[in-house]
Amino acid sequence: MDKSPYARRDSRKQRYIIGVCVVVGLALALGLGIGLGNKHSGGDSGSTASPTSAPTASSLPSPASLWQPAVNVSWQIVLAQTLNIDSKDPTIKPDVDVFDIDMFTHQNTSVVDDLHRLGKKVICYFSAGSYEPYRPDSHLFNKSDLGHPLQDWPDEIWLNISSPSVRDIMVARIDIAHDMGCDAIDPDNLDGYQQDNGLDLTSLESIDYITFLAEKANAKRMSAGLKNAGDIVTNVLSLVQFSVNEECVKYTECSVFSSFIKAGKPVFHIEYPEGAPSDVTTQASRKLCSTPGAAKFSTVLKTKSLNNWVEYCNGEIAMTDVTAS
Ligand SMILES: *[C@@H]1O[C@H](CO)[C@@H](O)[C@H](O)[C@H]1NC(C)=O
Ligand SMILES: *[C@@H]1O[C@H](CO)[C@@H](O)[C@H](O)[C@H]1NC(C)=O
Ligand SMILES: *[C@@H]1O[C@H](CO)[C@@H](O)[C@H](O)[C@H]1NC(C)=O
Ligand SMILES: *[C@@H]1O[C@H](CO)[C@@H](O)[C@H](O)[C@H]1NC(C)=O
Repeated sequence: MDKSPYARRDSRKQRYIIGVCVVVGLALALGLGIGLGNKHSGGDSGSTASPTSAPTASSLPSPASLWQPAVNVSWQIVLAQTLNIDSKDPTIKPDVDVFDIDMFTHQNTSVVDDLHRLGKKVICYFSAGSYEPYRPDSHLFNKSDLGHPLQDWPDEIWLNISSPSVRDIMVARIDIAHDMGCDAIDPDNLDGYQQDNGLDLTSLESIDYITFLAEKANAKRMSAGLKNAGDIVTNVLSLVQFSVNEECVKYTECSVFSSFIKAGKPVFHIEYPEGAPSDVTTQASRKLCSTPGAAKFSTVLKTKSLNNWVEYCNGEIAMTDVTAS
């Protein structure tokens, strides 16, 4: 089973840069009084965009009752495997504060409870913007809500994130995360507007969607993160509690995400160094760990499979125990 739909960032980045260029170009053009139709440019994401359904104060628990992870908090992410925690073992490798794990593979296991017993916080990952054929609820998706396959992951298909039916399925997923006791959700694939999605998705729809997801999660006393999607950071920064970023050093976009740090919210930052896991050079790890724009990011070095191997900026390497697959 292809369990690594997360390393698709080479194509994402190109579109991100194009999007930024178009935004800048559009701003210049507007400044000159020239109207531009840019339906397919991905550049409709200027900072004037605003969420269309911002959560109301009355519908949400007070911010104090939500988990707000601290800047520079330590973490591990394992999406390709199921953690195996020995109920008699008082420690876990690595001994970090936060674990980001695949929600469905840990449903019906005691892993979230076990992590809590060890004093850890748990972020539950699921794809919110793509159809994956191998999830227990995959049959619920309506064919009319599917767009193009993801470029690097043809198993997965972009979803119409404005569809009420898709949103119902995601509310049910948020309920699963809540029932499992997850402290937060990590909804992936919110950046379809940057891709050839086949549904004419726009960044405004993504802003509306992350607003919707964060509101639903917050109402269940769970935090929510923004995954990648650099060009909507300013629009949703106040609505989410953290960022999960892939490869901002590689693509020189860390400064975009440093707004989170300024707002007192962590950036869970992943880089995929060449040679991982066995041959990461000191030079490579130093570069990935000391980029000025990434100061105070919670950086992990991983392989693209996002398995149990992790290396940290202090040189520590760990392998979290997982079940045999
Ligand atoms: C971030 O946390 C690490 C421990 O995980 C610590 O060694 C480091 O000094 C911290 N950095 C800052 C800037 O607080
Ligand atoms: C967990 O169990 C429930 C109830 O039997 C089932 O509906 C669900 O599909 C299971 N989840 C997984 C990932 O197997
Ligand atoms: C699926 O989409 C079609 C066309 O939009 C709609 O008529 C139908 O009600 C939808 N079915 C479900 C289960 O949402
Ligand atoms: C996506 O769903 C919305 C809401 O149901 C609908 O208005 C829109 O036409 C759909 N987009 C496509 C490309 O089907």
